[in-house]
Amino acid sequence: MAAIQLQQLVKRYPNGHLAVQTLDLEIRDGEFLVLVGPSGCGKSTTLRMIAGLEEASEGRILIDGKDVTQAAPAERDIAMVFQNYALYPHMSVRENMAFGLRMRKLAEAEIQRRVDEAAAILGVEDLLDRRPREMSGGQRQRVALGRAIVRQPKAFLFDEPLSNLDAKLRVHMRTEIARLHRRLGTTMIYVTHDQVEAMTLGDRIVVMNQGRVQQVETPMELYRRPANRFVAGFIGSPAMNVLPGRLTGQAFHPEGAHEALPLGAGLPVGSATLGLRPESLDIQAGLPVLAEVELDVVERMGHETLAYFHLFGQACVARLAPELSLRPGQRVPLGLKASGWHFFAQEGEQLRLNQEGQ
Ligand SMILES: Nc1ncnc2c1ncn2[C@@H]1O[C@H](COP(=O)(O)OP(=O)(O)OP(=O)(O)O)[C@@H](O)[C@H]1O
Ligand SMILES: [Mg+2]
Repeated sequence: MAAIQLQQLVKRYPNGHLAVQTLDLEIRDGEFLVLVGPSGCGKSTTLRMIAGLEEASEGRILIDGKDVTQAAPAERDIAMVFQNYALYPHMSVRENMAFGLRMRKLAEAEIQRRVDEAAAILGVEDLLDRRPREMSGGQRQRVALGRAIVRQPKAFLFDEPLSNLDAKLRVHMRTEIARLHRRLGTTMIYVTHDQVEAMTLGDRIVVMNQGRVQQVETPMELYRRPANRFVAGFIGSPAMNVLPGRLTGQAFHPEGAHEALPLGAGLPVGSATLGLRPESLDIQAGLPVLAEVELDVVERMGHETLAYFHLFGQACVARLAPELSLRPGQRVPLGLKASGWHFFAQEGEQLRLNQEGQ
């Protein structure tokens, strides 16, 4: 097990592209840390620098306090699991899992003991004599995990390990990885652009955008108190609704609205954006009404209904109770609940206000 520190880490590729910009991060011993962000934001680059597969342009990487910035991958004692399982096709599962240990000249009895143990943890005991082509994607990914487990590394790095699996299997493997972490207690860094994986697996989540860390927080804090508009829009599905407008001290005046919304006293004055989570909007009686809106699309999901409409000219979505009978074209009074709304300054930073809904 290991604590990992990234200090002022920078990656500039030979073509001049700045993929990671001054990254500072402390990963605790035994922590499950998730790196999340849109395609190209520098997640894999960060992971590959930690593994030693990519050289850092600037900064330092410490594993258990030891500077490994210049160390070869093998010296770092870290296992990496990729999206494409990269199993050896001509070897059985047992041979695939044992291969790395044989290379390191472990005693045969110890190799077999570790392989059997990993196979039991992952539930692939019955597959040990099969070849990769004789297995499903989920089984192959389990074997790839097994190959990492038998090494008993200081930390596991995962780069979108589930993105080749179908939706149902993804959910299943997600819970298996959570169980694996609980059982092994080993430090894990997990890259994904799936925010459900990020929210459910991470002790903490690092949200990245364009090579920069936007926020590092526990999943619920990230959802409740996004540091800026990027995080607010990235975490949460459907995404947070945004209404541009002006704060006037006592109220918020959305662009395109006839009247200001009295959202509290002691507000700042100036341009701002109001962010509204889909669940902070509702049509039940007794809520302060924002506006009457015409429903555009109604999606019945079974456990909830998503209603799409325009509010002051902005496309918005509300998460509503499934039992409501709603249809497109219907006009409904849209109410605002006391929580789930946020103000952002023009630069995108969250405005910290006493009145802010939580
Ligand atoms: N070898 C390379 N040379 C130059 N630029 C690169 C190289 N590898 C990656 N990049 C660029 O660096 C940026 C970060 O890439 P990276 O692979 O880390 O993104 P990512 O967050 O993992 O994205 P994805 O979700 O698509 O996997 C991207 O803009 C990418 O085009
Ligand atoms: Mg990547």
